[in-house]
Amino acid sequence: MKKIKSDCLDSLCELFVRAFEAKTLKKAVFSKPESVDEIKTTVSPKKIGTSYVLQAETFSKDNKVYHRNIKSDFAKECQELFYSHAQINIFTSVGDCQYMISKSGKETVIGDKNIKKALDNGSFDTVSEEENNKQKNYLLSGDEDFLKKLGISDETGRVRDKKQSKYRQINKFLEHVESVIDKLPENEINVYDLCCGKSYLSFAVYHYFKNIRSINIEMICIDLKQDVIEYCDNLAKRLGFNGMKFICGDIKNYNMEKKPDLVISLHACDIATDIVLDKASDNGASVILSTPCCHHELNHKINCKELNFITRHSMLRQKLCDAATDAMRILKLEAAGYEASALELIDPEDTPKNIIIRAIKKQRMDEKRAEVLKKEYAEVRKFLLGEEDI
Ligand SMILES: C[S@@+](CC[C@H](N)C(=O)[O-])C[C@H]1O[C@@H](n2cnc3c(N)ncnc32)[C@H](O)[C@@H]1O
Repeated sequence: MKKIKSDCLDSLCELFVRAFEAKTLKKAVFSKPESVDEIKTTVSPKKIGTSYVLQAETFSKDNKVYHRNIKSDFAKECQELFYSHAQINIFTSVGDCQYMISKSGKETVIGDKNIKKALDNGSFDTVSEEENNKQKNYLLSGDEDFLKKLGISDETGRVRDKKQSKYRQINKFLEHVESVIDKLPENEINVYDLCCGKSYLSFAVYHYFKNIRSINIEMICIDLKQDVIEYCDNLAKRLGFNGMKFICGDIKNYNMEKKPDLVISLHACDIATDIVLDKASDNGASVILSTPCCHHELNHKINCKELNFITRHSMLRQKLCDAATDAMRILKLEAAGYEASALELIDPEDTPKNIIIRAIKKQRMDEKRAEVLKKEYAEVRKFLLGEEDI
């Protein structure tokens, strides 16, 4: 659609530049593009060094994302963006506005007057640098097709208010995946998501390897819930995520088809996390990233008189058992030849279940050290449970 000169677009573009200069611009989404190869372009302000620039991300139909900073011929580039898209959504700290042009050329703008009024009066809050940088650091912008189809973001790419926490959670998890990228194969990777549920994380990890890293990925996702597995399987097909396979079943009975490079798991309930870790380490996964959920087993079984002064207080008993359970899991992984640690997944304000266990298989197994760790693990169990084995 070639737009002819439009006063409406010119004044909207001027308002957009003013909002950016006044540091009230959060983001703008340019959709329904003229170019048949593109899906959309999102633009957001970023602090790069000492300069404040507009960064554009163009999402193409071949699933690639192209980044550029709009700096040189600023006004001209902005105008080109405005004139080459049939729908424009602008989000600012003083309100949002939307522009649309119909096939017959009828233009509609909503919300621009409030932004203009606030800028004219000087009555506005600026968007903090922290907020800009926070957005910059996320691997997922919100505009990804799978996030929209999963209901995390709306069709303009804005993350829905109720899904902000999930969005941060999967972004943070992806950062952990990125931090171990050098421990994983460069060209082809086998990934398992055990207890995948609705698979927000699975889709994100698949997208990360396939579209951001251009690594071929085969991913198997397993969960007990038949309806959820069917939903995810259909969604993967609609997204063209052909390397994803969904299996309905109990992870305990599942035999891995291929040696796993990476096993992920987010909030597998109670002892399901233990099954995940055992399954992953027994099959020699190169990397395991697992965020435990609530766990109750030790809380029910703890029998340690030395710790009675803690366990008699139910709140503290739970905290003690949570920490001891994760510490035992780590010890068990270490005894199986992993370098393992507990890291923070996300702000505790988002969820108290914010620990991620990261385990990286060591190149060489030190048998003597493994024996020492196995003995230590058995002693810890005996100390906590008052018996050799449960
Ligand atoms: C709290 S949900 C988390 C789902 C997903 N990973 C997420 O973070 O959105 C836990 C999931 O674990 C699944 N689950 C629990 N035990 C399982 C088992 N033994 N085998 C397969 N799935 C299991 C449940 O069906 C549920 O979908």
